[in-house]
Amino acid sequence: LSTIRVDVSGVDTGTQLTVKWLGKPVFIRRRTEAEIEAAREVDLSELVDPVARNANIAGAADATDQNRALDDTGEWLVMMGVCTHLGCVPLGNAGEYTAGGVGGWFCPCHGSHYDTAGRIRKGPAPQNLPVPTAEFVEETTILLG
Ligand code: FES
Repeated sequence: LSTIRVDVSGVDTGTQLTVKWLGKPVFIRRRTEAEIEAAREVDLSELVDPVARNANIAGAADATDQNRALDDTGEWLVMMGVCTHLGCVPLGNAGEYTAGGVGGWFCPCHGSHYDTAGRIRKGPAPQNLPVPTAEFVEETTILLG
């Protein structure tokens, strides 16, 4: 089956659930206010990859945090857990791009840093972590695919 339903009722703020979809890890993160703020403060001209890479919106949309988050508040961020360099799985809570040191992802294979919106900021990866087709179908259920 190419779609799956994910129950996110047990995901606390500041943590992420990793599920397998189409054989690949998908990160479902419930972000803190600090993570959302850090992502929304970024000047888009600082981004390595200016494109949202979000399968739910038009191809050339800007990589604003709003264009990557699943919901309007920005609490939920869903993306493929596959580094856009050579495909390793990035580690969460890498912290470099939040004042409090949480959120963000780091790929240990060759040192790519992704911010709290999953956008590539430093290292060899060329693109933001892709956001797959996803939506809330119930209050605490996300449909992937
Ligand atoms: Fe992630 Fe190379 S695979 S930095």
